Amino acid sequence: MDITNNSNNTVWQRSLVTREKRERQGKHKSVVIWFTGLSGSGKSTIAHLVEEKLFLQGCRTFVFDGDNVRHGLCSDLGFLDTDRSENIRRIGEMVKLFTEAGMISITAFISPFRKDRQKVKILVGEENFIEIYCSCSLDECQKRDVKGLYRRAKAGNIKNFTGISSPYEVPEKPDLVLNTDLSAKDECVKSVIDLLIEKKILLKK
Ligand code: ADX
Repeated sequence: MDITNNSNNTVWQRSLVTREKRERQGKHKSVVIWFTGLSGSGKSTIAHLVEEKLFLQGCRTFVFDGDNVRHGLCSDLGFLDTDRSENIRRIGEMVKLFTEAGMISITAFISPFRKDRQKVKILVGEENFIEIYCSCSLDECQKRDVKGLYRRAKAGNIKNFTGISSPYEVPEKPDLVLNTDLSAKDECVKSVIDLLIEKKILLKK
């Protein structure tokens, strides 16, 4: 049965090339690997290293990175709670489509609110969603301050900065916790790949 959206008379068009066919051809399941954590906690770094590993194994992957997405698709959004929720909602819809496209979507967004992460999980389907918490103390993130944003936020020059003047809600039951302030990058990447193998995301070649 076709799903009809009554609000604007659009009808969902089904693809002849199904997700299952794409997964078989790609020799891996399509999932969303969702990194969450403070700015500077290592989300992007680990996300890109994981992507490179998967790519070299022939997987179809793409990294959605907070800073990049905010240059285009979400350039109209700021950092109020409502803006962040809308940011995550849009990403959720986008990775849902990418999951249908047989891709492994890897996301690196602060995504500070539990309810927003939970909504994405429900939207894409619990079985397709892997939540990874990059645990790194605020102290360490401030020490790193790669982009110099913590310094500016503490000086009052950036409003609503996560960890300084805006909250971050630690995941209650993530699929994996990476202690990015204690573990080496390679170890973190290995933990992610091991989890994908355990969850049978990577099919036998
Ligand atoms: S989220 O909260 O909506 O998930 P997102 O991951 O897209 O945030 O963007 C975070 C990035 O935006 C940070 O890594 C940082 O470079 C930049 N940034 C600019 N202003 C802020 C702010 N007020 N709070 C957090 N990050 C900010």
